[in-house]
Amino acid sequence: MKNFCYFFVVCCCAICIAEPTDDIRQLLFSIRSGVNVSPLQEWLHGRSQYYGSRLDAIPDVYRSSMLDDFNSRLKLFKSLNLIVVAMLKSEQIVASATFNISDRRNQVDLVNWFAPDRLVDTKPFWIGKGPFIDFGVEGFQWPSDKQHRGDWATITRTFYIHKGHRTCQTDSGLMGVIEEGKEYCDWSDKAPGQPPIFYYAKNDASYESSLDFADQLIVYLK
Ligand SMILES: *[C@@H]1O[C@H](CO)[C@@H](O)[C@H](O)[C@H]1NC(C)=O
Repeated sequence: MKNFCYFFVVCCCAICIAEPTDDIRQLLFSIRSGVNVSPLQEWLHGRSQYYGSRLDAIPDVYRSSMLDDFNSRLKLFKSLNLIVVAMLKSEQIVASATFNISDRRNQVDLVNWFAPDRLVDTKPFWIGKGPFIDFGVEGFQWPSDKQHRGDWATITRTFYIHKGHRTCQTDSGLMGVIEEGKEYCDWSDKAPGQPPIFYYAKNDASYESSLDFADQLIVYLK
């Protein structure tokens, strides 16, 4: 009996680790933290030679060839109306935002699906419909005027869902990707390792008090 219980526990854990917590019908993109390439550039223009579908076997950067011709390839997946961007930690989804593309479907491109009016669900808490600031795949670039770049050479954050940047103590939102550059606030400066760095809020509070980091970013259709 003891052996049986042990076997049962081991099997359950193996399943938990291998299966992320959502129904991924078509994986579009995956990138791991610390790989030193830009998630935005890979999403928009990257190339991938991998054609498998096992999430635990994909390379550090995976971009579906579907993205080369996104709008017309979407027509082949008419029953899939939701695009999800998710952050994973040890293969488990820890934060996500779901966008509904069923309306204006033939206008969807690589950037405009990520819009507040398409947002239908967020995890680990519902963030609401805004107002947001710099919401988008292309997110937040600061300072935008290169001539005025001083000590804080570049701050570029993408896949950005923020409710505002008022002060470092009150910044809040759901998630963002630190692509490069030196960070400005104490909370973002806690980021570990090399970019890209994936951060998210564990609850609906300031990043200062709710921040955590993920090790993988994925985008999929469901
Ligand atoms: C997506 O939008 C369509 C059309 O507005 C609606 O019928 C459907 O219920 C929405 N799906 C979700 C999950 O919100």
